Amino acid sequence: MAKLIDGKKISREIKDELKEKVAALGQKGITGCLAVVQIGSDPASSVYVRNKKRACEYIGIGSVSHELPEETTEAQLLELIDRLNRDKNINGILVQLPLPEHMDENKIICAIDPAKDVDGFHPYNTGALVSGLPGYLSCTPAGIIQLLKRSGVSISGKQCVIVGRSNIVGKPMALLMLRENATVTVTHSRTKNLADVCRKADILIVAMGKPRFIDASYVKSGAVVIDVGIHRSPDNSLCGDVDFDQVMPLTEAITPVPGGVGPMTIAMLMNNCVEAMTRA
Ligand code: GUN
Repeated sequence: MAKLIDGKKISREIKDELKEKVAALGQKGITGCLAVVQIGSDPASSVYVRNKKRACEYIGIGSVSHELPEETTEAQLLELIDRLNRDKNINGILVQLPLPEHMDENKIICAIDPAKDVDGFHPYNTGALVSGLPGYLSCTPAGIIQLLKRSGVSISGKQCVIVGRSNIVGKPMALLMLRENATVTVTHSRTKNLADVCRKADILIVAMGKPRFIDASYVKSGAVVIDVGIHRSPDNSLCGDVDFDQVMPLTEAITPVPGGVGPMTIAMLMNNCVEAMTRA
C-alpha cells in the first residue's frame, strides 16, 4: 500500500519549529516583517497572499500588504520595490506572480534586493544555487526536498525525473536534487517518449500544469511520486497533474492534491523569512 506523504502535517511541523526560532530571536530583540505585494485581484493570487499573511501571523512575524490595482504602472511598482528595499523594518519582499501583461516579470524580480528576496527568484539567488553558494532557495522545490527527507525517502543515487522546466519549480528542483546526489533528468513539452523516460524514475516530480496527465503508464512500480500541479475540476474539487487514483496503487509513496506540495511552499517561504531575520 502506498504511503501518503502528508504535506499539511510536515508543513505544520516546520512552522512550529520556526515559531520557536522566532520567539528566541524576539528575546534578543530581533523581529521580522514581510512585505507582500499583489497587483490586481486574481482570486487564486488573493488566496495565496491571504495564506502567506496568515502563516506570518502563526509563526510570529509581521506582514504588511500592498494591494495595488491592475492598472498600476511598472514604474510605480519599481518605485514601491525601491522603497521596500530601503526600509529597515522590512526584511522580506514578496511580489505575487503572475503580474499583469503590461509588466516585465524579470525586470520586477531583478529590482528586489537579493538579501530580501524570500521567494528565491532573483538571479543572484538562483545563481547562488547553481554555484552551491548560500542564498534563498525557491520555496516549492525546497519544500519538496523537506517532504522527501521528512518522509524517510532517501535521495542519494536515485534516478529522479522532473516533468517541467519552469524557473520557479523545474529548474531549481533539478539543481536541488543534484545537490542531494540524485541522478537527474529534466523533461518538458518537447521530450520524446515521455512515458518511457518517466518510467525510469525512482522519484518522479511532476510540475507540468496539465490536470491528471500522468497516468499509470508513466510510473514504475515502487516509485515515489511528487505532484506539484493544482487544478480546479468542473465539479469544484481539486486535482493535480497526476491521476492519483490510477497511480497511487503503483507507488511506494505519493503526495495528495490538496495537502501535499501546496502547504510546503508557504512553510519554506516562512523559513526564508526567518533566515532573512538572522541575516539582518
Ligand atoms: N505565484 C505562484 N507561486 C508563487 C510563488 O511561490 N511566489 C510568488 N511570489 N508568486 C507565485
